[in-house]
Amino acid sequence: MTHAPQQSIQVVAHRGASEDAPEHTLAAYRKALEDGADALECDVRLTADGHLVCVHDRRVNRTSNGRGAVSALELADLAALDFGSWKTREAWRGRDEEPDWETPPEDLADTSVLTLERLLELVADSGRRVELAIETKHPTRWAGQVEERLLMLLKRFGLDAPASTPDSPVRIMSFSARSLHRVRAAAPTLPTVYLMQFVSPRLRDGRLPAGVRIAGPSIRIVRNHPTYVERLKRAGHQIHVWTVNEPEDVDLCVDLGIDAIITNRPRAVLGHLGR
Ligand code: G3P
Ligand code: CA
Repeated sequence: MTHAPQQSIQVVAHRGASEDAPEHTLAAYRKALEDGADALECDVRLTADGHLVCVHDRRVNRTSNGRGAVSALELADLAALDFGSWKTREAWRGRDEEPDWETPPEDLADTSVLTLERLLELVADSGRRVELAIETKHPTRWAGQVEERLLMLLKRFGLDAPASTPDSPVRIMSFSARSLHRVRAAAPTLPTVYLMQFVSPRLRDGRLPAGVRIAGPSIRIVRNHPTYVERLKRAGHQIHVWTVNEPEDVDLCVDLGIDAIITNRPRAVLGHLGR
């Protein structure tokens, strides 16, 4: 079933259009922009030489042809890796034929490691308004350096001090309340999203860590605890849900008045919403 056009729920491309293209690559973000996503989600980690790169896992083993922790590798090490062909391998797994490994991908640069700086350039050059939802990964290990570098970079792009929270083109997300606290201390008008995999007993009444305005529950929380969603709303919080790929979950989020859904399939979700 296709919904009547539903403008107000924001569709966020999770790691880019990561169902169609290798996650966190330029190819995935270009596809998300083509698909018409309202916002782009990305995870950031710090390399051994202090660059912010868009990589989800602690190690590069799953999403590249290399091995090792991002934090132990320098940007030049990461730039030598291929972050694309694992996706082709995954797509061909279990089939009788083999992909044509002899033919190089059309644009290797599209599937090399993506720095946050390059992603910000892509958004700036896109010529259209698209928001960025940036997640700090394992920020405690670096004692504030992830947030410091992140805010320095945002400042260079004029994105660290939005005039008002609802209109901000960038928001910072984390499972770590401490990371969000650091961001708010240094950039008070930048919106922050507290991500939740389960509902902490301390926060069952719908409160969030001090100063955080946006809740980021998993779709499992939303499915199993709709009354918690109501409590969050009553407390005045916006709600951004991850990762919403199935049509029935999109419908549920619309029915519950969720503000944003983070999905690997922006084109399919937008189509389902009649957009
Ligand atoms: O956007 C939030 C969501 O991405 C959190 O989970 O593991 O995909 O980073 P994960
Ligand atoms: Ca994430």
